Parts: sequence; C-alpha cells; structure tokens
Amino acid sequence: METVLDLQSVTKDFVLGGVFKKAHRRAVDNVSLTVGRNEVHGLVGESGSGKSTLGRIAIGLIRPTKGSVNVLGTDISTLKGKELREYRRKMQMIFQDSSNSLNPRMTLQDLLEEPLKVQGLYDQAERTRRAKALADEVELSQKWMRRLPHEFSGGQRQRISIARALALEPELIVADEPVSALDVSVQATVLNLLKSIQEERHLSMVFVSHDMAVVEFMSDRVTVLLDGRVVESGNAKEIFASPSSAYTRTLLAAAPSL
Ligand SMILES: Nc1ncnc2c1ncn2[C@@H]1O[C@H](COP(=O)(O)OP(=O)(O)OP(=O)(O)O)[C@@H](O)[C@H]1O
Ligand SMILES: [Mg+2]
Repeated sequence: METVLDLQSVTKDFVLGGVFKKAHRRAVDNVSLTVGRNEVHGLVGESGSGKSTLGRIAIGLIRPTKGSVNVLGTDISTLKGKELREYRRKMQMIFQDSSNSLNPRMTLQDLLEEPLKVQGLYDQAERTRRAKALADEVELSQKWMRRLPHEFSGGQRQRISIARALALEPELIVADEPVSALDVSVQATVLNLLKSIQEERHLSMVFVSHDMAVVEFMSDRVTVLLDGRVVESGNAKEIFASPSSAYTRTLLAAAPSL
C-alpha cells in the first residue's frame, strides 16, 4: 500500500511564558505513525494527550520540534511559503467547531465555491458546477444553495464544512473530533457520510476522537496516546478486541457505545 503520511519520531515542545526561565511542555513525545492510501488511522487518548497537536503537525499547521513529517514522499517540515501553500491543498482539516467559522453572510453556493476562488481555480461556470456536485456528495439539497449558515442545523453545517474540505480534492484529511459537538442522534449519520466519502475517494485520514466507539467505527488502524507518547498502536479490530495495555482497557471501559 502506498504511504501517504509518514511521521517519524515526532516531538513537539511548546514554550510556555516565563520571565526569567522559559518552561517547556512536551505535547508530543517521539511519535511515529503512518497512514496508507485509503486508510483511516484513529488517534485516541484522554484530554491533553497530544492528539490535536499531532494532527496539526501532520498537515503542516505547526512544525515539530524534532522528527520528520513526510507527506506523499516530501518532508513538509522543510517547506516554506508558496511551496508549503501548494502542498497544503492536498491536506485538509475538519474541526469540531468548523461550522462556527462559516461566514454567516455567505450562501451555501458561495461557501462551496470559496475554496476554489481563493486558489484561483476554474472559471465561474465550472465553480458553480463543482459547488453543486459537492452539495450532492454531502447530501445537501440543491434547493438550499441560496441559504445562509444559520438556516441549517448543526449536522448540516458540519456537512458544509466537510464539503469545503473536499473542494480542493485533498489526499489527506485530519478530522479532529468532527462529530463531538453534534447531538448523538446526528453523529451517526455524519460519521456514515464521512466514512462513505473516505472510501469513495480513497482518502487517507487521521481521525481524532476521545470516543472509542466512534474511533472503532471509523478506523483501520489506531494509535493510543498518553501524555504525548504512544501507548499502543496497530490494527484497530485487534486493539479493540484485545487491548494490550491497561490504559487502553480503561479507555474502553469508560466508553459509552454509539
Ligand atoms: N499552543 C500551545 N501552547 C502551549 N501548550 C499547548 C499548546 N497547544 C497544546 N498545548 C499543550 O499540549 C498538550 C497536548 O494538547 P492537545 O491539544 O494536543 O491535546 P488533545 O489530546 O487534543 O486534547 P483534547 O482531547 O482536550 O482536545 C496539552 O498539555 C496542552 O495544554
Ligand atoms: Mg484536541
């Protein structure tokens, strides 16, 4: 299988304020993991275990203190400026609160065209066509193209965010707690949609959640983090069936089922 993301010995130290002596917090400590084409790699661990930091490192939003971040054969931790921007198109992030950042004055049509406009891609007719295709893909009706964000439900707004992340045809998606802000009844439909899009597009995905049931549903492989370190990593089915570490067993025991 082709490797899309390859993190090797990644460490991230945040420098904390301090007048005389700078303190450091090691958010990620010597983590290695890979994500193949058409593969979902789940990250689990309690709050503060370094999941989001690792996800942001994976798509070049923050640089690691040590280690390498290889995406499609290029070490993105060495890229700058225009090169990094072009590479970022291949990597998109979906956040828990993505939908809060939708411009409240833009219609669904505008919101779905915007990523293409910003990149100066295609003519207007083609952007319009692509926006409609994206709406279809996330199961939002064509009748709603002139609606504003507040006219959609939370689940529908998260679908808009997913569609925007797909607009530039990324190869790698980092989804950081993408359904955690939604009602439980809506979570399953959005997860089903995300999973079928991932399979259809053969996307590689890093999927972050504190909810073990959600990670089990989405992931082919899983890495369990504690205090920035890997507790265990491997095939998701095997780890969920028979976790080798006491910490993973604790997470599983605390998990509500979806
Ligand atoms: N910009 C920052 N500056 C300083 N410390 C940070 C920064 N971002 C994260 N941290 C620290 O790094 C550690 C890991 O944080 P991170 O957000 O990656 O955890 P997480 O697993 O995503 O947690 P959660 O489940 O709550 O989202 C925490 O101790 C956090 O306080
Ligand atoms: Mg987080």
